[in-house]
Amino acid sequence: MHADIVVLPGDGIGPEVTAAAVEALQAVESAYGHRFSFNEHLIGGAAIDATGEALPQSTLDACRTADAVLLGAVGGPKWSDPKASVRPEQGLLALRKGLGLYANLRPVKPHPAALGASPIKPHLLNGVDLVVVRELTGGIYFGRKQRASDSASDLCEYSVSEVERVVRRAGQLARQRRGHLTSVDKANVLETSRLWREVATRVVADEFPDITLEHQLVDSMAMHLLSRPREYDVIVTENMFGDILTDEASMLAGSMGLLPSASLGDGKPGVYEPIHGSAPDIAGRGIANPVAAILSAAMLLRHSLGLDDEADCVEQAVSQALDSGAFTADIQGSGAAIGTRAATAAVLENLQVRC
Ligand code: NAI
Ligand code: MG
Repeated sequence: MHADIVVLPGDGIGPEVTAAAVEALQAVESAYGHRFSFNEHLIGGAAIDATGEALPQSTLDACRTADAVLLGAVGGPKWSDPKASVRPEQGLLALRKGLGLYANLRPVKPHPAALGASPIKPHLLNGVDLVVVRELTGGIYFGRKQRASDSASDLCEYSVSEVERVVRRAGQLARQRRGHLTSVDKANVLETSRLWREVATRVVADEFPDITLEHQLVDSMAMHLLSRPREYDVIVTENMFGDILTDEASMLAGSMGLLPSASLGDGKPGVYEPIHGSAPDIAGRGIANPVAAILSAAMLLRHSLGLDDEADCVEQAVSQALDSGAFTADIQGSGAAIGTRAATAAVLENLQVRC
């Protein structure tokens, strides 16, 4: 197949890890006889330096016509001046909104060989395999903000259709997995959560009678995610709750450097990126873990290109590399850790053998 992939390396370790993900996609391309074109564009701090804007129109236009977008990360101390009129993160929010990417999928499946990297006891982590579906373009992050001299407010608003579409996406995913959906809200206090719960209940009853729906309040969810993570399959929740719960969930896997994400809307393209940021503390040192970016490329193959076998192949190659102890410093600690290049090579080696 032919696919047009836009690559947005961004800032900090973004270019280092997206280069690894592109190499993995190129290995798939030659092993399976596909033709992928990779077109690089600017976003974030790199775009501000070159054009003064965090998301240049040319980048958004290229993304709109692409089959998929692979993103690194944006931001860093260079662009963090609170008085700056434009910030790298604005580029990311504008990209998500501009492409209508309302569902952010974050799978968490701790790797057996890397359980020691998690602060959670290994016996609680064995068999954990969950996906958080976070609503990405609504709620309090996008509501009206106001500031008076002695107060401030952020409006949290959700429409029925915004809840319907993300619950539907989560229901489809649950159906393909173990058939269990947990909807997280704060319906004992918030009106938006009462709407969320009503709509989730109706969508599942009408469209997914074959899956089980459970409602969970966000505060106890934060606790259960650590005490009994194995019990969850698909978790769907609103924007801010999802933001917080997914950072918490990343600790089940042990390192941010292991976790991919997909941001999807109704049309194409999806945006695929590691859940981590630009890691300025380790940028340019060649030690960033490329696994989150490579697994994001696997999600791109699966969700945007429909290439399930190829996605499986990349995921298995990553698993084998981890099984063989190919650990970067975020997993290994200060011992015999390897760098980004060697960790990428370990995955590619298994990719060539498998495909
Ligand atoms: P971060 O995710 O960049 O780093 C947190 C910690 O995890 C750091 O110690 C870092 O070295 C480590 N880490 C992250 N990814 C790693 C990898 N692949 N391999 C090894 N270690 C890794 O979060 P932080 O430090 O809060 O933010 C840094 C910058 O990134 C900020 O400007 C922030 O706004 C931005 N950011 C951007 C995101 C995005 O582009 N989607 C998401 C989160 C933060
Ligand atoms: Mg976050």
